[in-house]
Amino acid sequence: MNLDPSHLKILPATPESIRLASDALRDGKLIGLPTETVYGLAARGDRPDSVAKIFAAKQRPATNPLILHVGDPDAVHPLVSMDSDITRRRFAAASSLWPGPLTLVLPRSESVLDCVTAGGNTVAVRVPAHPVALQLLREVSLPIAAPSANVSNYISPTRPEHVIDGLVDSVEWVLDGGNCDVGLESTVLSIADPKSPPTILREGVLSAAKLEAVFGEPVLSSATTNMELLKSQSNAPAASPGLHRKHYSPRTPLRLVAATENVAPSNDGGNNKSRILRIRLRGPAVSLPGYADVWSLSPAGDPFEIANRLYDALRRADSGEFESIEIDQINVQEWSEAGNPNLLAAISDRLRRASNQDDSAT
Ligand code: TXA
Ligand code: MG
Repeated sequence: MNLDPSHLKILPATPESIRLASDALRDGKLIGLPTETVYGLAARGDRPDSVAKIFAAKQRPATNPLILHVGDPDAVHPLVSMDSDITRRRFAAASSLWPGPLTLVLPRSESVLDCVTAGGNTVAVRVPAHPVALQLLREVSLPIAAPSANVSNYISPTRPEHVIDGLVDSVEWVLDGGNCDVGLESTVLSIADPKSPPTILREGVLSAAKLEAVFGEPVLSSATTNMELLKSQSNAPAASPGLHRKHYSPRTPLRLVAATENVAPSNDGGNNKSRILRIRLRGPAVSLPGYADVWSLSPAGDPFEIANRLYDALRRADSGEFESIEIDQINVQEWSEAGNPNLLAAISDRLRRASNQDDSAT
């Protein structure tokens, strides 16, 4: 594992290095791209050979479509096909949140490659809010395919060295954009079907309330709607194909435990030899009987801070020092004061996937 932030492939983001990265992308190479959510593994999205490099590097199933990133909402138009007034109106409303941590799923245009959409008739598009990403996307002026820059099913990267760790041989450079502000992947919102309400396919930092205020109509989300009911409706959009049960998982076994549980399971009075790490989401990091160490993601209990620190903590926890990891479950009712049920749902969703050690999951 290489976690040295001074790695030669990590370039400070200067106008010169952004130009280098832009040239490398144009040449069909892979670049580690900082965004405000997580680092992306970027390649030009208009060439099958470049897109194929992403799938190979990540060992990603070809059935899982990619997000196309552009530097300006207007650059989305050639990629999508909006032949409904409702879709056009929704696109205009949603794109007011760009640049930002929002991915929109729309009907694709003919020009989008099948390997990007996994053969589907929709395409995911996003204008990220990171200044380095925006400069690069505007400089390269091509749709850039960029999944999270991790090997499939591992934890998404929130620092440049996370990209090196796992994809060092695949990337030409990683542009250093610092730590990602949000720390969780973007909210994926489908507005592909004018007959269905806008629907959150992957929860992120954006609240449904904010989206509803922008659209002026209800938005379906797992945090606020009965998704089972939604799935039973024939015109409901298919769930995000990438949301497999096992995802974002460290190699070290990880278990979710009640936040109130204060003693390690196999504790024999504090003398047991197994090294279990306890990660608390909030509250002080005071030592607990039977645990080798206790970390707290946000002593003040701020969900934004928890999201911001989660993936880096999971990667550090997975360094081999611990035999297993136990992390607090989120009981959304107990967090009502936090005000953004979608962010809590996003954290809770990623924790559940991280804890799923079932290798038979797809
Ligand atoms: O924050 C993010 O979205 C990051 C940064 C780099 O932009 N990217 C990212 O990409 O998380 P990825 O590939 O790791 O996750 C994209 C998700 C997957 O769950 C994928 O299945 C879904 O978006 N997706 C892509 N195209 C889709 C489509 N046409 N319809 C439904 N879901 C789609
Ligand atoms: Mg990903």
